[in-house]
Amino acid sequence: MIFRPNEIVLATANSHKVTEILNILETYYAKDLNIDIHPRPSDVGEIEETGNTFLANARIKASRIAQATNLPALADDSGLLVNSLGGLPGVNSSCYAGEHASDEENVEKLLSEMRDFQDRGASFITQALLVFPDGDELSATGEIKGQLLFYSKGQNGFGYDPVFKPDGYETTFAEMSPELKDSISHRKKAFIALFDQILSLEP
Ligand code: IMP
Repeated sequence: MIFRPNEIVLATANSHKVTEILNILETYYAKDLNIDIHPRPSDVGEIEETGNTFLANARIKASRIAQATNLPALADDSGLLVNSLGGLPGVNSSCYAGEHASDEENVEKLLSEMRDFQDRGASFITQALLVFPDGDELSATGEIKGQLLFYSKGQNGFGYDPVFKPDGYETTFAEMSPELKDSISHRKKAFIALFDQILSLEP
């Protein structure tokens, strides 16, 4: 039996994502959460994401932090799946243009690969996972579908935000306010689904 935790530690070191996660939790649960959220401990070194799936990568990150802190650890792994590219860049979204590629280089490579495709359909997927120190897990996924532009638009966000226009909206993620993006994003859907599960647990 899994009991509702009082404390959770984040496994991500990405400051954009930490802000996004904390904003989502504040907006959707406010004071109802009653769970202390701790940042990733700075003394844990870089964790190599060697998995072939979002779930495997989330598990690698969360397990390592849960072991290091003896607290339930929250990890997420996300990526962009492009229909015309058979689901690429997928788990390799952060290093599509090479091991240490910048966001700009990844976007440039994506636009170049997509040059001749009229089907611009793509989706962002997030796998959220809470791993307890004893190995128990809770997981949830979130998805947002959209269209890839032929050029970058907007300055906000990160990653592929400047070329991704979510279905039902006239702007890219990078043109949206962070509040609007956070309210519709794949990460929001995954974290809300996961925290709804966590909050339904017995204390
Ligand atoms: P992560 O697993 O959340 O670190 O995401 C891996 C990679 O997917 C990032 O480095 C980005 O290239 C891409 N990605 C994930 N989420 C987003 C997003 O919300 N906007 C743009 N790119 C994203």
